[in-house]
Amino acid sequence: MSVEDAIRSKRGTSTKWMRYPRDVIPAWIADMDLGIAPVIAQELIERIDNGDLGYPCAEVESRLIDAFSDRYLERFNTPLDPALGIVSTDVVQSIVIALMTLTKPNDGVIVQTPIYPPFLQSVNDTGRRLRENPLVQTDRGWEINFDELEKLAGEPDTSLLLLCSPHNPTGRVFTQTELVRVAEICSRHRVLVVTDEIHCDIVFEPNYHIPFASISPEFAARVVTLTSATKSFNIAGLRCSVVHFGSAELKECYESIDSHLRGSVSTPSMLAATAAWTKGDNWLKSTLALLRENRDYLTTFVLESGLGLKYSPPQGTYLAWLDFRETKAAASPQEFLLSEAKVALSPGPDFGQPGIGWARLNFATKPEILSEMLERIGTALS
Ligand SMILES: Cc1ncc(COP(=O)(O)O)c(C=O)c1O
Repeated sequence: MSVEDAIRSKRGTSTKWMRYPRDVIPAWIADMDLGIAPVIAQELIERIDNGDLGYPCAEVESRLIDAFSDRYLERFNTPLDPALGIVSTDVVQSIVIALMTLTKPNDGVIVQTPIYPPFLQSVNDTGRRLRENPLVQTDRGWEINFDELEKLAGEPDTSLLLLCSPHNPTGRVFTQTELVRVAEICSRHRVLVVTDEIHCDIVFEPNYHIPFASISPEFAARVVTLTSATKSFNIAGLRCSVVHFGSAELKECYESIDSHLRGSVSTPSMLAATAAWTKGDNWLKSTLALLRENRDYLTTFVLESGLGLKYSPPQGTYLAWLDFRETKAAASPQEFLLSEAKVALSPGPDFGQPGIGWARLNFATKPEILSEMLERIGTALS
């Protein structure tokens, strides 16, 4: 049995592995093929063995919020008051609720394209106006266009910046200097910041994640932080995330959406996230080392393949934003590679207008699978 078939045979509920036919290697949605931390498995098995799947006691939720707040302090040197944190089913749900409760219909919302597609959908679906501030690719990699950001933030109806940090799909890990400039601009124009930090743990040294809430004590009251253990610990199917508000006022506005409509988070998912954040770091460390090797392997492939393929290696995330514009797949890289290489990437245009001619590749897989995938891509493009 091939490595792909072995994984597929165990992943019968996984959309990553089930969406495409058997001969296709999936490298699209952001799940990893690297298992889960044993501490998470132990936690879940114990609950099942004990038949302990009733309604959760309040401590389950508060232990999770405490684990989140302790982690932000220990890992990122950022104190976040647990009393201003809540659990939420998923990050995208929290983005939608934040837009509905913290902005008004027709308000302008800034996003930095190319961007994780639900950012675009949630702004459109909630009847807000999309204000795109495309990142700019330079010799140093992807950079923020601060002049344009200043201009968009200054538009009278702009009320919120939806930040993705680290950034999906480019893998940029923003520096202190960059984030300070973003905070200064948003502060000047009284623009709120909702920062999606779901990829905060997947960062390759010497880069390091800086929570936006840590940037300026004066501005912190106008920041909403969204995160989750689901990306770093590969448990997206469990559905659980955390929202932290910079002030009680923001929390109150967000909670104006009826709690039953927001829904409650499952006990196993909260226990799994707590186990991940309190006991999962050895697993995370070895997973990060493997992801880094995969990233470097991919970089060598792109540089040495001579196929016209280009990219700026990601500083974080396990996602590669690949530029196919000078290859024979330029017209539609995702469709071309699905049919010619039997490799499923995410289509660039889903990430906004700048994504035409691009596609996103998820390299969080076994090295053998990555190697097979790149061999197929190389053959199809040559
Ligand atoms: C930036 C970003 N935000 C949110 C999500 C999804 O989070 P959730 O499943 O909690 O909605 C992803 C998934 O890839 C992501 O990359």
